[in-house]
Amino acid sequence: MKSLYKKNDIHQILDEYKLDIELKRHMLRVSQYAKLLGELMCLEKEKIVLLEEGALLHDIGKQLIDKWLLDKPSKLTLEEFKIVQNHCKLGLKILNKRYQKKEIENIVLLHHEKWDGTGYPFGLKRYNIPIEARIVSVVDCYDALITDRIYKKKVSHEEAIEILKKESGKSFDPDMISIFEIFENNFKQILEKSNENKG
Ligand SMILES: [Fe+2]
Repeated sequence: MKSLYKKNDIHQILDEYKLDIELKRHMLRVSQYAKLLGELMCLEKEKIVLLEEGALLHDIGKQLIDKWLLDKPSKLTLEEFKIVQNHCKLGLKILNKRYQKKEIENIVLLHHEKWDGTGYPFGLKRYNIPIEARIVSVVDCYDALITDRIYKKKVSHEEAIEILKKESGKSFDPDMISIFEIFENNFKQILEKSNENKG
């Protein structure tokens, strides 16, 4: 299935915002996991292409937030947390300078919404959260758990699965977590391949 955007357009945005290398790697992995989960959820091919592209840009808004804040090793104050949360809306602004495609906008703006309505920016619940944003939410969390960040240590793949299961029906769509669990090795393979490429 051919991309609806020219592939270069997506990479042009990524290049233009001179992404931090770790952020770029994170978004690339999330894009790969999202494609896989989309396929397992039997999404249409056209949706999967958009899912892959939206996931590739999902955290683009973080480029407009001070890096020291994103990497702050100690707990964020409420005020600082609000600034970080704003990366979803900033991402949408970056996107809308050139692109307007609903599925991609949904991913950038809504990938921190939670199944039980406790997420941000709008506190949407359950199926009010578009499927593409629900998918990216799961795989974004998986990748965050299994990689080191300045402010936290990574956990093993197995521990990450346990955490995702605990959050099933709270943070995440329970159907997606069930599928993730069945095919967990396929997700693990993507991670391992990405680590190999890192050298
Ligand atoms: Fe994010």
